[in-house]
Amino acid sequence: MSFDFKVADLSLAEAGRHQLRLAEHEMPGLMAIREEFRAAQPLKGARIAGSLHMTVQTAVLIETLTALGAEVRWASCNIYSTQNEAAAAVVVGPNGTPEDPQGVPVFAWKGETLEEYWWCTDQILTWPGGEGPNMILDDGGDATMLVHKGVEWEKAGQVPPTTDEDSEEFGVFKELVRRTTAADPQKWTTVSAGIKGVTEETTTGVHRLYQLAEAGELLFPAINVNDAVTKSKFDNTYGCRHSLIDGLNRATDVLIGGKVAVVAGYGDVGKGCAESLRGQGARVIVTEIDPICALQAAMEGFQVARMEDVVETADIFITTTGCKDVITAEHMTQMKNKAIVANIGHFDNEIDMAGLGRVPGVTKTEIKPQVHEWTFTSGSSIIVLSEGRLMNLGNATGHPSFVMSNSFSNQTIAQIELFTKPGEYANEVYTLPKVLDEKVARLHLEALGVRLTELTKGQAEYLGVDVAGPYKPDHYRY
Ligand code: NAI
Repeated sequence: MSFDFKVADLSLAEAGRHQLRLAEHEMPGLMAIREEFRAAQPLKGARIAGSLHMTVQTAVLIETLTALGAEVRWASCNIYSTQNEAAAAVVVGPNGTPEDPQGVPVFAWKGETLEEYWWCTDQILTWPGGEGPNMILDDGGDATMLVHKGVEWEKAGQVPPTTDEDSEEFGVFKELVRRTTAADPQKWTTVSAGIKGVTEETTTGVHRLYQLAEAGELLFPAINVNDAVTKSKFDNTYGCRHSLIDGLNRATDVLIGGKVAVVAGYGDVGKGCAESLRGQGARVIVTEIDPICALQAAMEGFQVARMEDVVETADIFITTTGCKDVITAEHMTQMKNKAIVANIGHFDNEIDMAGLGRVPGVTKTEIKPQVHEWTFTSGSSIIVLSEGRLMNLGNATGHPSFVMSNSFSNQTIAQIELFTKPGEYANEVYTLPKVLDEKVARLHLEALGVRLTELTKGQAEYLGVDVAGPYKPDHYRY
């Protein structure tokens, strides 16, 4: 079998395969879904373009999708998040060799340039042979944005000129669309027409989808996987509770205990980050714009302050907001010598890295990949992780398998739902029904030795629910 792909090094496949084997053991939900649907092959005929961090856990997701009949092309949704051994293992496949790869086309390696990143994203949407993809599996919405902007600009007859207002990345993005539409002026219109739907992994991508839907511009149905309870209340919170500290330790190995740490944002991600820093003995300060989340943080015993009040005294700064310009260049010039600055939100605009680069006289020293010291003319310096991109995947290996099993069980169910029920969904954003959410949770109980109490018929009647669930109304917030 020969197919196109681009990864760092296929000789890493064996190491990757060992990690996949261990990850499968820690992903009971995903493996149970693989077995449940293997015979029925519900994804037969699905051609999935996947844009999601190319990690070991994602490799198990990809092989679940193919086990259910799908064809897949994959890219990472961040320039630093690929685990090269996982990418190699997926390309080689369980039965192939580096000389004779038999797996899945992956276009991802750790440390892509922005040009390479968008090239990879284009590759997953450009299928060899006549037919294009018919499903997107997205994380952060970049693949979806490429299709939508492509269609918009094809209709307008041109890609708008790049201006000084555009970020460097948006300039690179426009250039890619310019190039692809020059080669085929209908490329994105054709791709879009073939897509049955998208399933979106994260808060930031979901936010983009709702904006498109509200504007009446969403080109195909979407399932918001993020807001499954078994995704956002687990991956975003407990996943970050684990991988934030992992990233900090691998990058800097500073003792966290006793330090003052600022967590910007106290949503699902911020809650996990604040808890883990406190667990290490840090004194944690939260910043928030939402009074409800600010009150929650205060009730948990965290000081809630404004960035400007704490910027000169804290040791560690973590952004978790999905917002922009949360830490500005001016903030960074005011920080303590050797303060650590990192972002765990989806995009790099939470920290004004471009502004930091423009501070007069500032110099940048690479301590090691994805760890940089920025020194100001005063002689004081700060340590910035992953160039302001999500540090748990840039400096470490992202969330552990067990929590990703919950997220990816939802992803797989959502792909089956949209692919097998064309016509049942309009061009809107949907969440999965609660009964499926409960199913995903159920699939993870046994591995943890949980004995769930069963309602009696009388108790169920008293509560007005079915013995088999769902147990809560849709408005319940967990
Ligand atoms: P969320 O909406 O639950 O939380 C974000 C919080 O930030 C909100 O409470 C909001 O009020 C607050 N906020 C917004 N602007 C702010 C500002 N200027 N200053 C202070 N607080 C502000 O979203 P969630 O689920 O916590 O996700 C946050 C980000 O993390 C998103 O970009 C999401 O895509 C990403 N994410 C990253 C993961 C990772 O592994 N690195 C995992 C899951 C999500």
